[in-house]
Amino acid sequence: MKVDVLLGLQWGDEGKGKVVDVLSPGYDIIARFQGGPNAGHTLEFEGQKYVLRSIPSGIFQDGKLNVIGNGVVLDPALFKEEVDALEASGHDLTDRLLISKKAHLILPTHRLLDAAYERKKGNGKIGTTGKGIGPAYTDKISRNGLRVGDIFHSFSEKYNAAIARHRGLLQQMDYEYDLESLEQQWFAGLDCIKRFRVIDSDYFINKSLDEGKSILAEGAQGTMLDIDFGSYPFVTSSNTVCAGACTGLGIPPVKIGNVYGIFKAYCTRVGSGPFPTELMDETGEQIRNNGFEYGSVTGRPRRCGWIDLVALRYAIMINGVTRLIMMKSDVMDDFDVIKACTAYKIHGVETTEFPFETEANPEPVYVELPGWKSDMTKIHDKREFPKEFSDYAAFLEKMLKVKIGIVSVGPDRAQTILLDSLR
Ligand code: GDP
Ligand code: IMO
Ligand code: MG
Repeated sequence: MKVDVLLGLQWGDEGKGKVVDVLSPGYDIIARFQGGPNAGHTLEFEGQKYVLRSIPSGIFQDGKLNVIGNGVVLDPALFKEEVDALEASGHDLTDRLLISKKAHLILPTHRLLDAAYERKKGNGKIGTTGKGIGPAYTDKISRNGLRVGDIFHSFSEKYNAAIARHRGLLQQMDYEYDLESLEQQWFAGLDCIKRFRVIDSDYFINKSLDEGKSILAEGAQGTMLDIDFGSYPFVTSSNTVCAGACTGLGIPPVKIGNVYGIFKAYCTRVGSGPFPTELMDETGEQIRNNGFEYGSVTGRPRRCGWIDLVALRYAIMINGVTRLIMMKSDVMDDFDVIKACTAYKIHGVETTEFPFETEANPEPVYVELPGWKSDMTKIHDKREFPKEFSDYAAFLEKMLKVKIGIVSVGPDRAQTILLDSLR
């Protein structure tokens, strides 16, 4: 068997959680491979809404195993919050959630360092989610990190050494803090982690493949936030692209199967950084209102703009996307005209490639398509699509050279239209 990978093609929040939940009945195992609680994956079904941060979005399906892979950075305190909230709403996770020994821990001081570095950057700040992601991955790469498996072996020694080092860094930045209450929650979180099976996830994943089990790898963030390929330095600190599923789960590249690339019918971004098709006018406001574009964890208003086919083509190339999944089509329901950016003009020269320089300030070149001006939220079958929508989807497929397999027309699980068999 091979591992299918589902990932975001834009700047995150494309709707990955919803689609993983929809697809997970077709898989035995759902595995997160990177990121941490900077993610907020929203699922809606049976009138309930859930936001997952570190727990894979297959958790609500009976009989499925969910794995937090080695590439994830896990904050015990936030993990416990997530577990408590799910259990309070009647979901028992004990037998369906497995955690990699090799996943790195976000220490309470990582969060403080995240805030201190952002403050130091001033106007140049990244606009991080404040969850300690950058500092935790920094410690991983500089070989100073603590892993989930360390909890069981002379942990306090390693923990104290790391905290002492972080205290020194915070002091250098004159950052004032109160660690005590953070630590209390953090250690309660460690006890919560111990309730779950902590495993050698690399062996588990590969043995499961050998036994014929099917696996869906769930990405977090999006390709344009990738540490290597995103709009650096305004990115997250992990590889959000398909290759991240190999390193974040221990899967050989030859065992990657389908790659599902998710995108919205328009574009959003939270935090700082380039966004060529951003709309600062009432059209942007209309998209934000229609799509309720506010961070699922932070509540921050998301920046909104037209769909960017230059960035999408780039993301499709890096990930080897085999099928596209188009989200939030319904958000465009009341637009007379829909614009799609097909190229950029940089210093008067047209290009279809995403530029290296983030200051290049590309001017988008747009194609205009007629809107469908009808309610798509109650459609259940592609034969009911308005003609203008079908034309828009066909235009995107032609420009992106990959077929669309799913169209989403609302936040609920049921508002999902399968166009063809994905596998
Ligand atoms: P993720 O991080 O990629 O999982 O996406 P988020 O959950 O952060 O953001 C997607 C938001 O859009 C959530 O509030 C979803 O409930 C919502 N959503 C998902 N698909 C659709 C859709 O097709 N239409 C609308 N209107 N909302 C959607
Ligand atoms: P999901 O999985 C949207 C953004 C932050 C910031 C940058 C770096 O829900 O799509 P970090 O805290 O990772 O150091 O922040 O990345 N960011 C996201 N934006 N969706 C996400 O996750 C994000 N995770 C991080 O806003 O610009
Ligand atoms: Mg999100």
